[in-house]
Amino acid sequence: MNFKDKVVLVTGSSRGIGRSIAVKFAKEGASVIINYRSNESEAKAITEIISSYSGNCMCIQADVSKERDVKMMIDTIIEKYGHIDILVNNAGIAIDNDFQNRHVKDWQETLNTNLIGVFLTSKYAGKHMLERQYGKIINISSTNGIDTIYPYSIDYDASKAGLINMTKNLAIEFAPFINVNAVAPGWVDTGMNDDLSKSYLKSEMEKTLLKRFAEPEEIANVVLFLASDMARYIDGETIRVDGGLKMG
Ligand SMILES: NC(=O)c1ccc[n+]([C@@H]2O[C@H](COP(=O)([O-])OP(=O)(O)OC[C@H]3O[C@@H](n4cnc5c(N)ncnc54)[C@H](OP(=O)(O)O)[C@@H]3O)[C@@H](O)[C@H]2O)c1
Repeated sequence: MNFKDKVVLVTGSSRGIGRSIAVKFAKEGASVIINYRSNESEAKAITEIISSYSGNCMCIQADVSKERDVKMMIDTIIEKYGHIDILVNNAGIAIDNDFQNRHVKDWQETLNTNLIGVFLTSKYAGKHMLERQYGKIINISSTNGIDTIYPYSIDYDASKAGLINMTKNLAIEFAPFINVNAVAPGWVDTGMNDDLSKSYLKSEMEKTLLKRFAEPEEIANVVLFLASDMARYIDGETIRVDGGLKMG
C-alpha cells in the first residue's frame, strides 16, 4: 500500500492503537498528523520518530470533544498541507466503574469524546474532503458496541454502538465521494486496559480463539486496508478484528 502524497489525521495518536496507525501510514509515505489531548511528551516523542521516516509529520494538541479545538486543528492542517485525505477517528476513553458509582459526568465525558468528537472531526474534515471529492474516514469502534457487553463500561459500550450507527449515517451523508467505515477491535494490548485486574484480563483472553489479545499493529493493518484503494467498494461497514472472540 502506498500513501505517498496522502495527508492523514489520526486522532488520539500519542500512544496505543492510534500511535501504531500513525507509524504505519508514515512508513507507507503519508504525511501524518499526530493528535493528543494531554500527554505532550508522548506525542512529541512519536512525532520525532515519525519525522525520521517520512520527514513530514506534525503534532497538534486538541481535545476532540471541543468544537473550538477541532476547528483549530483542521484549519492548521489545511493551512500547512492544503488538504486532508484520510481521517482516522481513534481517540476514545473508557471509565470503568460499577453501575451505582457511575455518574452523569462519566457518561458525558465518554460520549463527548467517543461520539461528539467523531461528529466534530468528521464535520470539519469532511467539508474539505467534499470540496476535493475525495476522502476516507475510518472510525475505531469496539466489539463492546456489538456483543461484548460489559455493565462496568455501560456508557463506553453505548458510545461504541452509537459509533457503528454514526458510521452508516456519515457514509450516507458523504456519499459518493468519501468512504466511511469502522473497525471494531476486541481486546488490544494497550494502556487503556491497565486498570483492569490481571485475572479478569486472563479470563477474557481465554475467550478468544487465538488465545491472545491483538497487538495495536494488527488493528492498524485493517485501518490501512480500509483507507486504501483496495477497499474502494466498502462503505458504511464495520469490520471486527477480535481474534475470534466468543461471548461467555
Ligand atoms: N485497547 C483496547 O482493548 C481497545 C479495544 C477496542 C477498541 N478500542 C478503541 O481504540 C481506540 C484507541 O484505544 P487505545 O487502547 O489505543 O487507547 P489509549 O492507549 O488509552 O490511547 C488513547 C489516545 O486517545 C487520546 N485521547 C483521549 N481523549 C482524547 C480527546 N478528548 N481528544 C484527543 N485525544 C484524546 C489520548 O491522548 P492523551 O493521552 O494525551 O489524553 C491517547 O493518545 C479507542 O477509541 C478505544 O475505544 C480499544
